[in-house]
Amino acid sequence: MNRPSLEGLRLNVPADVQHQRLVDWVAEVAALTEAAAVHWCDGSAEEYDRLCAQLLAAGTMMKLNPELRPNSYLARSDAADVARVEDRTFICSANQEDAGPTNNWMAPAEMRALLQTGETALFRGAMKGRTMYVVPFSMGPLGSHIAHIGVELTDSAYVAVSMRTMTRMGKGALDVLGADGHFVPCVHTVGAPLADGQKDVPWPCSTTKYIVHYPETSEIWSYGSGYGGNALLGKKCFALRIASNMGRDAVKNDGKGWLAEHMLILGVTSPAGKQYHVAAAFPSACGKTNFSMLVPPAGYEGWKVTTIGDDIAWIKPHDDGRLYAINPEAGYFGVAPGTNVHTNPNCMDSVRTDTVFTNVGLTDDGDVWWEGMTEVPPPHLIDWQGKDWTPAIAKETGAKAAHPNSRFTVAASYNPALDSEWDNPAGVPIDAFLFGGRRSTTVPLVTQARNWNEGVYMAATMGSETTAAITGQIGVVRRDPFAMIAFCGYNMADYFQHWLDLGGKLAGEGAKLPGIFCVNWFRKGADGQFVWPGYGDNMRVLEWIVNRVEGQAAGEDHLFGVSPRYDDLRWDGLDFTREQYTSVASLDKADWQKELALHGELFKTLAHHLPAELPAIKAQIEARLEKA
Ligand code: GTP
Ligand code: SPV
Ligand code: MN
Repeated sequence: MNRPSLEGLRLNVPADVQHQRLVDWVAEVAALTEAAAVHWCDGSAEEYDRLCAQLLAAGTMMKLNPELRPNSYLARSDAADVARVEDRTFICSANQEDAGPTNNWMAPAEMRALLQTGETALFRGAMKGRTMYVVPFSMGPLGSHIAHIGVELTDSAYVAVSMRTMTRMGKGALDVLGADGHFVPCVHTVGAPLADGQKDVPWPCSTTKYIVHYPETSEIWSYGSGYGGNALLGKKCFALRIASNMGRDAVKNDGKGWLAEHMLILGVTSPAGKQYHVAAAFPSACGKTNFSMLVPPAGYEGWKVTTIGDDIAWIKPHDDGRLYAINPEAGYFGVAPGTNVHTNPNCMDSVRTDTVFTNVGLTDDGDVWWEGMTEVPPPHLIDWQGKDWTPAIAKETGAKAAHPNSRFTVAASYNPALDSEWDNPAGVPIDAFLFGGRRSTTVPLVTQARNWNEGVYMAATMGSETTAAITGQIGVVRRDPFAMIAFCGYNMADYFQHWLDLGGKLAGEGAKLPGIFCVNWFRKGADGQFVWPGYGDNMRVLEWIVNRVEGQAAGEDHLFGVSPRYDDLRWDGLDFTREQYTSVASLDKADWQKELALHGELFKTLAHHLPAELPAIKAQIEARLEKA
């Protein structure tokens, strides 16, 4: 095996690595970035502890009180590196049309010149003074036919430890790769090279940021950020943007292809002992993690919800005509604020130990706190930016203890509600798809589509108010088709077609397709407060959904689909009046006229490849609205 040496830089290739292409690529990137050292991650606990110790020494992380939060850390990011940067995210397909009107695009050669090949290319010398970690990982159970391997090269130890929690990382993934296995190459730098003797900062990053995908060669290049989906490249970059391309391209091989979706996957078991599987697409910070760990409320004794995944689903048609889903991830990178023992007890249990918290508050006794964790805030703490924080300061200045997009990183194995099949390489069969945005008006609590194509229409036209998970304005309604606006790695109109085609083919073979539902937990009353209690009480909607799948729940037809009336839901254990129900379930004619105009704008944007089925369904809804 040829083990290149780069003018004194030792590549440190482990003796059992037989993959020449991988070694050559590592050498190439090490040369380009002028990394000071190369470390191949084996994924062991010792390595995790060693890297955490290094991050402590660098001031990137702090150890939390081992009595209160054993084996856990707090990291504070740069104040300007706190969320995904959608405006800096690019799909560099050969033809702009393949990226489509909803993605930023640059010609591959132009982008490569900027990042890799030009004289002043950003990756040139970008890792000077830093160690480059070679992070092999599997998205999906090791060796599963649905899984895929990636290798991330990163100069961030924080990214390396996070990847160990979020994926099956290390030696196991290398073993699957063997001598010639396929992997998705992912290159990441924080974009902060160190000159000789230059002192590092706790959270190195750059004001210049590029999150770049080359779909034709399945490559990812990420520059300048160390945070979340910008830097943990297995997650949104690979498991959604690149994988959505892989799933669509697979049509050429098997006639159907597969789906990479921004969906949680849960199991729900009825008191009769029958288990159903639901996959739900909600935009960032709109309730996926919470819904996937739902604890049924009082009155729902005998019901049980178990988690398969909380963010991403890879879904493939099986020989039995059903769609099977796996969670490609192995951990949760979840929103901290709003999480507490009432809203999400399973999550609070999950993060009791062995968790890395990023950008939350630090209490005086060395534990974490965030807005919404307890009703009464601690009298004093250090906020996410390292400043003194008290309830009085918060009241006066609006300062948050935790950044609204502060997060916890913890392995799925700590979740007490983890489904026993979560790691099954074959996946679980899906009974229902849910799509749900954050809408303070217009969209009712739950609506079932009357058929697959109407469901695709619902998902395609979904709108949601923007959240802190993305840099930019918060609370503005934007169209977020399938909760994939930021994650579909190809032309969104072609993606609609892929969904229509898959349903059409499966139905043509006589398969019973999953039901499709649209939900909205976020309607607000005149007082600006959420009317629907949400969280555990979403079980009431989930029960109606699985009963609809069984053909055993009543509902009322309306212009958009079928929704339950007040008496079609079960209210045991909750005091929720008919009037309150009306305010979360009603359809207002004027609101829907405005809503349909927004659907029309989206269709105009996507007109070039838009499947004809969608405007046809819109015309039907308009005709019904006219008569309403
Ligand atoms: P990402 O990790 O960004 O993909 O977010 P997510 O979709 O997993 O959302 P998550 O479950 O973390 O919830 C985001 C925020 O919404 C948190 O502050 C939750 O407390 C809040 N939330 C979740 N579910 C509900 C609900 O049913 N009702 C209300 N009112 N808020 C909710
Ligand atoms: C999201 O924004 O949807 C997240 C967080 O899950 S991140 O991993 O940063 O994309
Ligand atoms: Mn989440």
